[in-house]
Amino acid sequence: MEVFDDLEAMSRAAARLFVATAKKATEAKGRFTVALAGGGTPRSTYKLLAQHAFRDQIRWEAVHIFWSDERCVPADDPRSNVGMARLALLDHVPVPDEQVYPIRWMDDPRKSAADYETVLHTTFGQAPPRFDLILLGVGEDGHTASLFPGTPALAEMESWVVAVMSKDPPRVTLTYPVLNSASTVAFLVSGINKADALHKVIDEPDAADPPPAARIHPTDGVLRFFVDNPAASKLGGIND
Ligand code: 6PG
Repeated sequence: MEVFDDLEAMSRAAARLFVATAKKATEAKGRFTVALAGGGTPRSTYKLLAQHAFRDQIRWEAVHIFWSDERCVPADDPRSNVGMARLALLDHVPVPDEQVYPIRWMDDPRKSAADYETVLHTTFGQAPPRFDLILLGVGEDGHTASLFPGTPALAEMESWVVAVMSKDPPRVTLTYPVLNSASTVAFLVSGINKADALHKVIDEPDAADPPPAARIHPTDGVLRFFVDNPAASKLGGIND
């Protein structure tokens, strides 16, 4: 875990991780696969990545962009994760269009989920996808991606992508088997409103009913937390 003074410093560190991971993957395999997070926190990271200092260090022709979750709304809806990432980052970098894989908005969220699973199979084959990098956030209730407390998606161990019908708008999310197969998972967590949730995720992962974000443990990968001071303010090891 790395703790920073503010969102800006945290976002710079996350952008550096993105660049370093992209470089390593591109050199090793000729491609870099990343699943972006939604929500507001990563916007600053995406904006930094669009600036010359970061943008020019990435071989965008080798980058493949996915999403860890999406709201079932059209891409021009302000709640769309794809829309946010396009405005902040993708419209400003030379990533080939055919290497951007949005979760598609369909009349039935279950169709969107099935469609995205097919997209993942096309890119990754039959084994669970091993993303080079997955970015995630943490909600005030401890959710991550669209894995919300008390929802059936938490128990899904077969499908790679599921619909979360109980939310309004419904959501589509990657599941634990995919999230935990990544090579690197990085949480970006900012703000005092996240302090309680982060405390539960970090300090009480073995509680009877742990928050969904506490169940992210890459089986053969690295887990990183990029956190600002307000979000870290209730963490045991740091503040005792
Ligand atoms: C989303 C997310 C969600 C998000 C957290 C944190 O699409 O909203 O995938 O899991 O990362 O809710 O959101 P903020 O960054 O807005 O606090």
